[in-house]
Amino acid sequence: MRHILLYFGLITVSVLFLSNAGGVPQGVTGSITEASHNSCGTCHTSQTDVDVAIDFKILNKDNQQVTKYISGETYSIALQVNANNNPKSYGFQLTAIEEDTKDDAGTWDRYGDKVKPVILTIFQKQRRYLNQSAPKIDGLFTAEWKAPETDKGNIVFYYAGIAVNLNGNTSGDKHTKGQFKLKSNTSSIDDKTLDKKILLYPNPAGNHIRLQSDLITQIDFIDPSCHLTVHLSVEDGIVDISSLPVGLYICLLKDHHGQALFTQQLIKL
Ligand code: HEC
Repeated sequence: MRHILLYFGLITVSVLFLSNAGGVPQGVTGSITEASHNSCGTCHTSQTDVDVAIDFKILNKDNQQVTKYISGETYSIALQVNANNNPKSYGFQLTAIEEDTKDDAGTWDRYGDKVKPVILTIFQKQRRYLNQSAPKIDGLFTAEWKAPETDKGNIVFYYAGIAVNLNGNTSGDKHTKGQFKLKSNTSSIDDKTLDKKILLYPNPAGNHIRLQSDLITQIDFIDPSCHLTVHLSVEDGIVDISSLPVGLYICLLKDHHGQALFTQQLIKL
């Protein structure tokens, strides 16, 4: 009996360590779906005089960094692992999880140099990950990620990165991990209680208008006939429009980022 146990023990250990430079045998990004105690450091011993940092970016088609996604849009993901003390090379692991359902989020494509998709079984569930296919000298790992076709709420990217000395075993390397929350673009304005028709009232209005939504913090009043634009801010849900000349205005209702969320017509009496 003891021999059998030892035998299985040895198999388990060798399976655990049957890893190579071209991948990681388990999920170690710190994702909520993983065993929390696992990290690249489960196998790679840490080199104390090396500091590792990961720079994680999501870029839209115009190459602008985003913090919110639009359903069905494709984004470029760039994960840069950096370290001091001249490591020989770098590796990484990355996964995207829907915050609410804890399912894999979106789809991956167009893998950059030395990036490969892998399926790992985590708590009997198959999960999608990206990993190095081989150590990469510049530490930059890229891929395309397509957001879910419908709004799935917030999406969290969990990642780990490692700086390695390529000594052929797991000693003398250093790893770190992090996460990035990509917000749902519609979550803030897809509020069922918002009725666009009565966002702003009364209409026509004299000296003051009221706002239904506290998302709106400023309004541009555009007079189409003379191209006059007046910017006014919302104070406690009320805008003082006494300074506006009488007439018909197109109102751009903006959030605190200055992004126009709605347009509406207003008659100033
Ligand atoms: C279950 C154990 C295990 C875990 C967890 C693990 N590795 Fe490894 N890894 C190894 C072993 C064993 C080697 C050495 C074998 C080799 O060089 O081919 C290795 C080698 C590497 C190498 C090649 C460099 C070298 O020194 O040989 C890279 C890059 C790498 N791992 C990245 C990672 C990253 C990134 C993580 C975390 C996201 C990670 N590993 C987690 C076992 C592991």
